[in-house]
Amino acid sequence: MGKNIVEKILQEHIVEGELVKGSSVGIRIDRTLTQDSTGTMAYLQLEAMGIDKVKTKKSVAYIDHNMLQQGFENADDHKYIQTVANKFGIYFSKPGNGICHQVNLERFSVPGDTLLGSDSHTPTAGGVGMLAIGAGGLDVALAMAGEPYSIKVPKVIKVELTGKLCPMVASKDIILEVLRRETVKGGVGKIYEYGGEGVSSLSVPQRATITNMGAELGATTSIFPSDEKTREYFKAQGRLDDWRELKADDDAKYDEIIKIDLDALEPMVAAPHSPDNIVKCREVSDVKVDQVAIGSCTNSSYEDLMKVAKILKGRKVKNDVSLVIAPGSRQVMEMIARNGALADIIASGARILENSCGPCIGMGQSPGTDAVSVRTFNRNFFGRSGTNSAKVYISSPEVAAVTALTGYITDPRDIDFDIDFSDISTDEFMIDDSMIIVPADTSTEVEVVRGPNIKPFPLNTALEDKLSGKVIIKTGDNITTDHIMPSNAKLLPFRSNIPYLANFCFSTIDEEFSARSKDNPGGFIVGGDNYGQGSSREHAALAPLQLGIKGVIAKSFARIHKANLINSGIIPMEFENPEDYDLISQMDNIEIEGILEGIKNGKLVVTDKDRGVSFSVSVVFNEKEIEMLNAGGKLNSIKLKKGI
Ligand code: F3S
Repeated sequence: MGKNIVEKILQEHIVEGELVKGSSVGIRIDRTLTQDSTGTMAYLQLEAMGIDKVKTKKSVAYIDHNMLQQGFENADDHKYIQTVANKFGIYFSKPGNGICHQVNLERFSVPGDTLLGSDSHTPTAGGVGMLAIGAGGLDVALAMAGEPYSIKVPKVIKVELTGKLCPMVASKDIILEVLRRETVKGGVGKIYEYGGEGVSSLSVPQRATITNMGAELGATTSIFPSDEKTREYFKAQGRLDDWRELKADDDAKYDEIIKIDLDALEPMVAAPHSPDNIVKCREVSDVKVDQVAIGSCTNSSYEDLMKVAKILKGRKVKNDVSLVIAPGSRQVMEMIARNGALADIIASGARILENSCGPCIGMGQSPGTDAVSVRTFNRNFFGRSGTNSAKVYISSPEVAAVTALTGYITDPRDIDFDIDFSDISTDEFMIDDSMIIVPADTSTEVEVVRGPNIKPFPLNTALEDKLSGKVIIKTGDNITTDHIMPSNAKLLPFRSNIPYLANFCFSTIDEEFSARSKDNPGGFIVGGDNYGQGSSREHAALAPLQLGIKGVIAKSFARIHKANLINSGIIPMEFENPEDYDLISQMDNIEIEGILEGIKNGKLVVTDKDRGVSFSVSVVFNEKEIEMLNAGGKLNSIKLKKGI
């Protein structure tokens, strides 16, 4: 029987288990990436494993999230990552070289290889046909140590593209359409594999925009074939040797097929506060805009910025709009600087930011009170911009640039501009890898430099058979990792200092949570549907761990967060009957007995002592997960195995 692309790559990489839908397999990880916000913790964990060098083909540490360096903490973290990378044989992309996913696509992506990254937008590399998965920092540390990465064999959904995008309709509109149909939790347990004749009209950066924002579906990853367009991209990046063809067999089978006619798509936006809240631009053309931000790992390629420059050339940004632009990498910045496009952008009145994540995580450029911001990013969750009252719309670069000129959300087809994008593609990127530091051959002489803000990560204790404690918080549906552990400009410098960060756990929705947890150790969290969606932030599990949380009972969990909870030895439990959620209240005393046996059988009974009611929760884990929970987390279980 023919195979799809996902099956082909999985088959080549399986080291444990068999390729049977729904069963767990261990896959070999060829490459890893980290960024600074998750990297410090991943490298502290790698150090704790007692290995000499990473076992992957290539691992890269990027610095892209926090470049503001308002205190010594960031500079210290950067130094720590650089020195620890040097010691363990990891390439180091210096601050200023660009956003991890953009630089990875340009300089390190390889079709057919597996990539595990401690950032939820790692699937960006699926744009070249890589099986690229976002995971917690600990999973990435383990992959660097040569451990297989365990996943459930996912369902493979084919997204069949036909036709061709009309002028001013972008690849961003393709992924917005997929999100409109599938929603932010429609992709859980699935990989989206793109195919059909419409694929050949999309460039690699356009494909990478789609696979990047595929993360918002909750999907394991998204992937494109590696074809002639991919070959051209690798040739232009001077990396033809890294290219290989990758396509699905003609008789490949899929679990589902979604069809999208590219000719029929229109410019769209994701309205506040969810990436699946999709509306057509023309339906919101009365929305007045205060800020436009262009960049992020979703839309900051050379192609994107050239389109923006063409739209802005000879025109002026509206007086009451602030337009900020962050190119995705030094390669992009240098190319638009040398060909004059940057001058056109500056002349329009745009503000140029560093090649980094920046405003995407509220790291500068937070909108004003009640302001409307149109951003080419991937997420518009409540509060992520740094301003709780702001309304963030997600759009393509074309919509964003035109909107900056008109001051209202604008469908670019409604503006009478005579713009031709046909000459944008390049057959030769400017290549300069001098900001990528090659690691030392011998690690013994390398000294790892640690600043005072770098604290050891918290460790759980072995699982007990009976747990009792209070419900410290009861949340609603769709709680994001941003809600659980906010990551704003003030907190990001403390990512390697969990005891301090934990003081701000849930602070955007409940300022007393941290204090209540400390007063009532051994407590529980009760959540609604899709608990822990959004960023892969491991800290959203480590902060509750630091505060002594023992379990989370929710209607359903987002995949990466659930894995992070297990890694931390916190039990994720799902209401068997979602209506039981209504039985329980904040600060109720609950008790769970027979846990050690129950997690093997997939079921526990929770008793609410205050209400005098009991209900069942489902706890379906694979063998490894049970091992981890028993040991009090993944690192404890690895240490036990290795006798450390
Ligand atoms: Fe950075 Fe935002 Fe992407 S934080 S990695 S640009 S999602």
